[in-house]
Amino acid sequence: MNNTSTRVGVIGAGLMGSGIAEVCARNGCEVISYEISPDALDAGRHRIESSLQRALTKNKISDDELAETLARIRYTGDLDELHDREFVFEAIVESEPEKLDVFARLDKVVSDPNAVLASNTSSIPIMKLAMATANPERVVGVHYFNPVPVLPLVELVSSLLTSEATASKAGAFAADVLGKTVIRSQDRAGFIVNALLIPYILSAVRLLDSGFASAEDIDNGMVLGCAHPMGPLRLADLIGLDTVQAIAEAMYEEFKEQLYYAPPFLLRMVEAGLLGRKTGRGFYDYRSKAA
Ligand code: CAA
Repeated sequence: MNNTSTRVGVIGAGLMGSGIAEVCARNGCEVISYEISPDALDAGRHRIESSLQRALTKNKISDDELAETLARIRYTGDLDELHDREFVFEAIVESEPEKLDVFARLDKVVSDPNAVLASNTSSIPIMKLAMATANPERVVGVHYFNPVPVLPLVELVSSLLTSEATASKAGAFAADVLGKTVIRSQDRAGFIVNALLIPYILSAVRLLDSGFASAEDIDNGMVLGCAHPMGPLRLADLIGLDTVQAIAEAMYEEFKEQLYYAPPFLLRMVEAGLLGRKTGRGFYDYRSKAA
């Protein structure tokens, strides 16, 4: 695949969207980053610039590569600008109505019938998103992991109507252009990773809520006893507690199994705006530390 000319669009410039835009641009793609609000677009631009600065400081990229990467990303609030894209990655909030709206609009805007319309959803069945379009064969799930520049995995999810050409193109792009390892999952809420990760995180929340152990001890148990890079509560703070809740609810809706049921303590944290790192407080307090 000729990555120097691949035209990529990324919908949403949050944590995941900006990470996807960054890795695509770093790998030679010409990227348009779309956000509905100018403030969110600015925040995304700032996130990408900080991440590239970090890579420069760690000698992972040169000054020239940093400048070239930044020059490959264009920012817009006008969805119509994505009309000529070969790949579009949707990475907005984990809300089904909002994603359905984005896919319905993208389907009208992106003119190439062979363009790939991919969702970074963690938990919403791809079939539902595909049915918001008139061309469900070009809709596929490409699920990245946070931090996108660091974690090498992508889950590739075909719906019942995704064409094999679309799935192959999306898989080849993730593997050959971005250098990710691709695993394929059935189109069931949560796919492979969240089917395992979300019940684990919810169990940690239940342990904490019951007074069984402190947050630090729960996390140290998994970091020091099982060599995980971070414990489940710190990981929940990284993902965002609202996102953990949204994924858990989508999985509970799909399977009606108790292990996916979001405990009331998690709901109260979300209602309180204690969403984790992004709001400065979750199970831990990040306000006194650099982000
Ligand atoms: N962007 C770019 N690079 C980053 C980064 C970021 N946001 N955060 C960390 N890094 C890089 C650092 O530069 C560093 O690189 P080097 O080793 O080459 O120097 C490396 O990652 C390690 O970073 P740190 O030393 O600063 O910190 P750390 O060792 O504590 O690692 C971590 C931080 C990478 C986040 C690590 O703790 C980790 O991998 N945690 C697990 C994250 C995880 O499980 N993510 C999946 C969440 S689930 C999901 O995303 C999907 C979903 O559907 C919910």
